[in-house]
Amino acid sequence: MSSDPAGAIAAAGLDPERIPRHVAVIMDGNGRWAKKRLMNRVLGHEQGMETVREIVRASREIGISVLTLYAFSTENWARPKAEVMALMTLLRRFLKSERQEMVQNHIRLNAIGQTERLPKDVRDSLDETKGLTAENQGMVLNLSLSYGGRTEITEMVQSIARKAAKGEIDPETITEETVADHLYTKGMPDPDLMIRTSGEMRISNFLLWQLAYAEFFITETLWPDFTKEEYYDILKAYGRRERRFGKVLR
Ligand code: FPP
Repeated sequence: MSSDPAGAIAAAGLDPERIPRHVAVIMDGNGRWAKKRLMNRVLGHEQGMETVREIVRASREIGISVLTLYAFSTENWARPKAEVMALMTLLRRFLKSERQEMVQNHIRLNAIGQTERLPKDVRDSLDETKGLTAENQGMVLNLSLSYGGRTEITEMVQSIARKAAKGEIDPETITEETVADHLYTKGMPDPDLMIRTSGEMRISNFLLWQLAYAEFFITETLWPDFTKEEYYDILKAYGRRERRFGKVLR
């Protein structure tokens, strides 16, 4: 892989001034992809993992700073046990197989969510990959694992309230920055762009605070069919959007 973002941006026909810093993705449609082929849902997730590889590389190539992927939600624990176990196995496989490439490409792995709920072998793989990539400065691959936006907000309130009760924080001085600093995404820029595959017009408890001003792009493409080309087309369309942040610009 080339480590020349400017060259890759030009080759892709993207506007270098309009590359989002943080892209968040709801990777939906693995089950439908498998069903269409009369295959087990798990095979849809396996194919989805290939798309993850492609989109991680494509993001790194053009110099995205943070890529957040919604890999497993708090609600996903309620899926059939066999599917949950298969997803955990895939996750562990991914963390092992991609480790070397992450190191080579200066990608830092991070996870957000109630990762303590993950099986021990997955947590171990996660910790190992996080440890090995901790110093990398190229891109943060931020996996949402056992993640729920309302849980994140609830935990943030608990931790601020705890500090207030101990007298460490004066409630009158709490600002939006205080809130942001107590979320899982502390220190990261908010997503500029949120992509959801497979056509659903929902936020599904994803980054409820952080997506306040993100541009949304929803594609009918099922996640396993999503490609680098379509990703870059969305980035081109993002570059043409006018972001007003609630203001009048002209
Ligand atoms: C949604 O499709 C997808 C998920 C719940 C899991 C996402 C997992 C992957 C893309 C593969 C593994 C990921 C990593 C990072 C290794 P769905 O099952 O809800 O699809 P459906 O709505 O068509 O049923």
